[in-house]
Amino acid sequence: MATQAADLSSGHRWTVSPTPHEVITDYFTKNPDARFEHPDPYDVSRSDIYAEHRWQPIFAELRAKGPLHRVEKSPYGPYWSVVQHKAVQHVESLPELFSSSWQHGGITILDRPEPEDGQEAFELPMFIAMDRPQHTGQRRTVAPAFTPTEMKRLEDSIRQRTGEVLEGLPHGTQFDWVQSVSIELTTQMLAILFDFPWEDRHLLTFWSDWAGDTELAGIRDLDGTRRGILYEMAAYFQQLWQQRAQLGEAPDLISMMIHSPAMNKMSPQEFMGNLVLLIVGGNDTTRNTMSGIIHAFDRFPDQRKLFEEKPDLIPNAVQECIRFQTPLKHMRRTASEDTELFGKHIKKGDKVILWYNSANRDEQVFDDADRLDIERENARRHLAFGYGIHRCVGARLAELQLRILLEEIHARRLRVEVTGEVERVRANFVEGFRKLEVTLSKF
Ligand code: HEM
Repeated sequence: MATQAADLSSGHRWTVSPTPHEVITDYFTKNPDARFEHPDPYDVSRSDIYAEHRWQPIFAELRAKGPLHRVEKSPYGPYWSVVQHKAVQHVESLPELFSSSWQHGGITILDRPEPEDGQEAFELPMFIAMDRPQHTGQRRTVAPAFTPTEMKRLEDSIRQRTGEVLEGLPHGTQFDWVQSVSIELTTQMLAILFDFPWEDRHLLTFWSDWAGDTELAGIRDLDGTRRGILYEMAAYFQQLWQQRAQLGEAPDLISMMIHSPAMNKMSPQEFMGNLVLLIVGGNDTTRNTMSGIIHAFDRFPDQRKLFEEKPDLIPNAVQECIRFQTPLKHMRRTASEDTELFGKHIKKGDKVILWYNSANRDEQVFDDADRLDIERENARRHLAFGYGIHRCVGARLAELQLRILLEEIHARRLRVEVTGEVERVRANFVEGFRKLEVTLSKF
């Protein structure tokens, strides 16, 4: 049964279910043989190693062998894995040679689906998947929303909302932290950033889940369902866009984009694509770090104790938790010409995967890297936000939200313990939690 969200203006009801997870689970129940085969033991595109949280020793072995590895056979075709910290930075600093462009294949290990015969391709061009010079111009339309001054402006409302969510939580009774805190806070944040109709804010999460789920996009049978939901989203934003265009300049992201000088050079599809990028970019990532912090503190109770005793450590704890969680495991680049990389021959068109999860556990850079250490001196060197010209534009906002969450937990002397089921996301792109059952007490 579809859950209904409120109207934007008239008549149409916007639905917020089923979730992609429900649809995928149903699909594999009906098609048990459809799961991918992974004959190569070093094929780290397999999602079971992430769902079962046993990816660390595989990457440690790869790092010990060298910076770059080739996998010949995988469900995503042949690809190169870049697994060391320095090597990831090196590839990211050569954006002309290693392209992000969606026309070359985009930014995930999964190629964009080819349209079926007679069907129109549904493209959402985003600047994360563009090369210079287009990337530079389009990034400029949104960058002013993430300056330190803008962050100061947003801080009070983020703190107020965070406080309200924490105040509403039950004490002594088990509940799901993912639903009640991580999803709620990130959804509210996006609604504030876009000045999105508050009563419809859960649509942002719903669309983001459908737009950003790379596993789902790999199942051709489900492409139609996904496309239908994204068309609905496009229709909603079109109405919002028309409203904002009439209202003149305002500090929300949609108005900023509409009234930016670079907007004249953007097609309606690019405008839509960049909106989706901001929704998806700011959603799963921050959400999963909010869950990851709680899970990591529970696994390392000495670190939780340190946080409780020394709140001055919070800014560094945020960096360390982002390193430890690494909510996006990879970005993909495509070689734009034949080249040599770390002594190996790369052909034009080859897929090169930058594994941030591995870079952030690189023993050459981080001591005892599989351990959470909120006093770690070089936690800031993590590559969870990427590196170079595409480095995350929303990094400051993510850090602000996470810092405020920890400060407000501390101010209320809340201890959050994992007391029930923990379910991880089954994916090779997003690292996160579907469920994290916890109980609150006071320290
Ligand atoms: C790009 C991670 C939060 C918007 C990226 C990239 C990564 C990333 C890995 C690609 C970098 C590269 O290719 O070198 C994260 C993480 C976050 C987070 C780990 C939270 C902990 C956010 C937020 C927003 C956002 C809150 C906005 C609301 C974007 C955008 C890009 C981007 C627009 C494209 C930048 C470009 O191509 O120039 N992010 N992100 N992200 N992120 Fe984030």
